[in-house]
Amino acid sequence: MPTVFITGANRGLGLQFARQYSAEGWRVIATCRDAAGANDLRGLAGDVEIFPLDVTDRAAVEALAVQLSGTAIDVLLNNAGVLLDHHARLGEIDHDALATSFAINAMAPLHICERFTDHVAASEMKVMASISSHLGSIDGIGAGSGYSYPASKAALNALMKNVAGDVAGLGIKVVLFHPGWARTRMGGPSAAVDPGDSAAGMRRIIAELTPEQSGRFVSYQGDDLPW
Ligand SMILES: NC(=O)c1ccc[n+]([C@@H]2O[C@H](COP(=O)([O-])OP(=O)(O)OC[C@H]3O[C@@H](n4cnc5c(N)ncnc54)[C@H](OP(=O)(O)O)[C@@H]3O)[C@@H](O)[C@H]2O)c1
Repeated sequence: MPTVFITGANRGLGLQFARQYSAEGWRVIATCRDAAGANDLRGLAGDVEIFPLDVTDRAAVEALAVQLSGTAIDVLLNNAGVLLDHHARLGEIDHDALATSFAINAMAPLHICERFTDHVAASEMKVMASISSHLGSIDGIGAGSGYSYPASKAALNALMKNVAGDVAGLGIKVVLFHPGWARTRMGGPSAAVDPGDSAAGMRRIIAELTPEQSGRFVSYQGDDLPW
């Protein structure tokens, strides 16, 4: 069966991905900051291995890549993300939150793709997927959009578009998703989309991704989004 590697797999969309892939018999390499406290993840049946990983800890990412060397990863899922200092206006910006947002939402996924390229290249499906946001569309940014989150997701989009070009020769396909406004801790209880439906939609797109579609930025329903 194929293997999926997921960041931030302990809750929200990451947990949904882990649940759905494990239910289909995939090997799930589930990573999260607090592996010992990841009770929902531990409760999943199937082939689920849990590894502690703060995605901004570059030494830990490198050590895990070495530990997993020789493991083919069919789908690498950059899911971990933060929404900080939402709706701050000019003059009120929390610059630590801005730096943290870039570190978690943009720089860490790039580093993980870099370190796990060989693992993905050795697999059958060869997919690198990152959860972005429609708020990362520069087209949609305006007064009150906030700085940290949209800018860090726009940076993620730019970085992954670049990665798509670099790994095309290895047969690796790259995709960026807007998961919808999903009912997770980040999305909140009023969010419109069931997180299970969101993950299922993204899994369908991942399963059908062709090399010609690599570098796309799409919704969980498959609609192309503006950059
Ligand atoms: N929900 C939405 O409506 C929505 C919309 C657009 C995009 N997204 C994106 O979808 C992805 C998943 O979000 P979600 O809705 O599932 O949010 P969530 O419930 O808040 O989950 C976020 C996950 O990211 C993890 N995380 C944060 N910083 C991390 C770090 N430094 N290292 C490792 N893991 C870290 C969290 O781990 P801890 O438990 O340790 O904090 C948690 O597992 C994110 O990239 C988010 O930006 C969500």
